[in-house]
Amino acid sequence: MTLPGSPYLAYKGADLYMDDVSLRDLVRQHGSPLYVYSRRAMLAALAPYQRALQGRSHLICYAVKANSNLAVLQTFAQAGCGFDIVSAGELARVLAAGGEPGKVVFSGVGKTRAEMRLAIETGVRCFNVESTAELEVLSEVASELGQRARVSLRVNPDVDAGTHPYISTGLKGNKFGVAHELAVNTYKRAAALPGIDVVGIDCHIGSQITEVAPYLDALDRVLDLVEAIEAAGVSIHHLDLGGGLGITYTDETPPGADELIAQLLTKIDARGHGHRELVFEPGRSLVGNAGVLLTEVMYLKPGEKKNFCIVDAAMNDLMRPALYEAFMGIVNTQQRGNDAAVETWDVVGPVCESGDWLGRDRQLNVQAGDVLAVLSAGAYGMTMASNYNTRGRAAELMVDGRQVWEVREREAVADLFKLEKLLPGA
Ligand code: LLP
Repeated sequence: MTLPGSPYLAYKGADLYMDDVSLRDLVRQHGSPLYVYSRRAMLAALAPYQRALQGRSHLICYAVKANSNLAVLQTFAQAGCGFDIVSAGELARVLAAGGEPGKVVFSGVGKTRAEMRLAIETGVRCFNVESTAELEVLSEVASELGQRARVSLRVNPDVDAGTHPYISTGLKGNKFGVAHELAVNTYKRAAALPGIDVVGIDCHIGSQITEVAPYLDALDRVLDLVEAIEAAGVSIHHLDLGGGLGITYTDETPPGADELIAQLLTKIDARGHGHRELVFEPGRSLVGNAGVLLTEVMYLKPGEKKNFCIVDAAMNDLMRPALYEAFMGIVNTQQRGNDAAVETWDVVGPVCESGDWLGRDRQLNVQAGDVLAVLSAGAYGMTMASNYNTRGRAAELMVDGRQVWEVREREAVADLFKLEKLLPGA
């Protein structure tokens, strides 16, 4: 069986390893549930982006929202990456992890004035602005500081990325971006504002995209706009093509980042835009298959209609199945070898909701006390975790070869209500 995440995730004998570390051993030492990431796998996922862009003026801005652990950010900062952020909180993380503010792009439809101020003062590279209203506020904030904010407009190319509606962002009905037909006028408005410097154009059409075609369509639309905007007298320096490249959760076959970028470059060159700086904002494709969520099997509850495998991780630890009905691979970290004992299980957590499941109808050979690995959990796993049911969030580990670092402690119960107060006593 080829696991998503291999070769960094593979069975050695009966035991599942990440790099050179037995995952079952990690749970024995650090408890469950537990997120584990491979630094090597992250850097290996970055390599095709870097290779494909070699010799071009470019910046790879890792999308912090995919996995914002400081050690993950540090890994990418040390590899030369910039960052795509969507809040002052993410900016603070980037700085704490040693990221350079001059390599940060600030995305999102609802930046506050306070966030704008902080980002300008910190010296971020560019704001990806999504509306005229935001542009005007940003100009005001920058002017108050006696500065000009560098801006790209995020344009909505109105292409279908062919992905889940919740993670598709480049269609007309989405809240994102400036509508294609309004883009030229919005650029003219931007160029006339005292606190704004137009530097680029931006688009991001969705997430978990598994084909090249929607990117090429979006690129054509963006290049049409660049030509129209420059004809209107506003010059564009960089093209930011967003993130969104998908990964293999089960049987998806997304293009490699190098293949995707090669095709984009061919079009960019053919249309005479090869001199422009290129920015990408990958998230999932850099970290998704570099991480697993480990969870111990607590109870087996065979039933008439369904067999339930009750584990100690839940929808609060990993929202993707509950929120998007997302499929995430689940394997036993210890292969039991006896195929006759394989049964069909719904893998569910302890949270009091029927939506609390991690996997449905999974063929597993499993016993209480086993440790299951939920695969491809490096992206949008821990960052979307919550404390629902007053459950502390999992610990996170980073491995590299034989080395293991705890990069986030398990949350203690006392942490969960330390900001709360009782009413004054009667
Ligand atoms: N840039 C912008 C402006 C974005 O909104 C996103 C993701 C990215 C870059 C990174 O996209 P990626 O390369 O990771 O696809 N929680 C969902 C995914 C939400 C994506 C939101 N935006 C999930 O678990 O599938």
